[in-house]
Amino acid sequence: MIGFSRAAEQLVCDGVPLSAIAEAEGTPVYVYSAAVLRERYRAIDRAFGSHSHRLHYALKANSTLALARTLQQLGSGADANSIWEIDLARKAGFSAADIVFTGVGKSPAELERAVPLGLKAINVESLGELARVEAIAARLGLTARVALRVNPDIDAKSHPHISTGLKINKFGIPLDDVRALFGTIGRRRSLKLVALHVHIGSQVTTTEPLARSAALVAALVAELRERHSRNAPLEYVDLGGGLGISYDGRAVPTVEEYATALVNAVAPTGLPIVIEPGRAIVGPAGALVARVIDLKPRNADSQFAVLDAGMAELMRPALYDAYHRVEPVSRRPGSEKQYELVGPICESADVVARDRLLPPLEVGDVVAIRDAGAYGSAMASNYNRHPLPAEVLVDDARWRVIRRRQTIDDMTAMES
Ligand SMILES: Cc1ncc(COP(=O)(O)O)c(C=O)c1O
Repeated sequence: MIGFSRAAEQLVCDGVPLSAIAEAEGTPVYVYSAAVLRERYRAIDRAFGSHSHRLHYALKANSTLALARTLQQLGSGADANSIWEIDLARKAGFSAADIVFTGVGKSPAELERAVPLGLKAINVESLGELARVEAIAARLGLTARVALRVNPDIDAKSHPHISTGLKINKFGIPLDDVRALFGTIGRRRSLKLVALHVHIGSQVTTTEPLARSAALVAALVAELRERHSRNAPLEYVDLGGGLGISYDGRAVPTVEEYATALVNAVAPTGLPIVIEPGRAIVGPAGALVARVIDLKPRNADSQFAVLDAGMAELMRPALYDAYHRVEPVSRRPGSEKQYELVGPICESADVVARDRLLPPLEVGDVVAIRDAGAYGSAMASNYNRHPLPAEVLVDDARWRVIRRRQTIDDMTAMES
């Protein structure tokens, strides 16, 4: 059995007891299963079957170098959200032609560096950005490969903070502007329109809005071909990321249902599909392992369990009220008790898990916060001067540190 499972009441990752990793590396520590990472990538890849497709792993979900490298070696492309994620992707071995550059606010300096790289596409978010890309390409005597990110005005029905497809969201180009661009872009010699792009949000847990936005992109492709046949042909459609995972055991679409929905919507165009999954690949591959550092009464029914990890190491519960399963690494005997699991940060928002029934906990116990592979380490901060935790990759029943724990000297190295 790959990933996180129980063996003799001990939580293990690919056969390695998490208690051993916590003992050796200290806590908090992120632990990843290479086997799950590979399996998730391959499952999504397989689900698209014979329809021509490419996965561009969304580095924003987790760009720790060893994980990015593992995905590159599996054949993934990369979706980078800043010039620094592009730098990271290059370090991880991705070639420029395997990187799409997304992001709602690409600065002039980022575009100056990105345009000459020869990326697979710059996913352009506004008419202004398109003009800025064009000006740089013209000055350098280059043709920039661009995709237009369409704002489809479709509700992903995810948390409002991670829904990006509505007109009121800052993302993408309004449909009318996209249509108007179709008439002129073929004459803009420094630009090559290679794709239409859509991404309506993250942690999307029904296929319907994803299928609807894919169908809308397909309809736009048809319109572009019909009305503007002079334009160079599109090479692919980029349908973004967003496939949700089950944090609490409730059903989410399978990768097959997801892929079928997208393929059916786009099949009439005959174009290859690019997707940008992040969470669905790396989320279930990681756990944040933490220690109970204090216990104290909360109310008649429950206790606070103060952990050495909280919102600095995993922002999602504080930011989105997100649910993560938490379980003791070694279960103590005795009846379950109710706990409010909180972090050590000086904010009442620093709650990791509310009102959980768990086997009895004692100070010093180690717990695992599950499904923390995506948007865990990537969103971690030094708030309260917490050092960034170590990260460990378990591969083939062996584990190694892929990022050492930050020190106070690391933290202050840029300060005077
Ligand atoms: C443009 C774009 N692509 C891909 C992703 C990855 O999304 P997810 O991790 O939900 O697959 C995001 C994140 O929201 C994004 O903004």
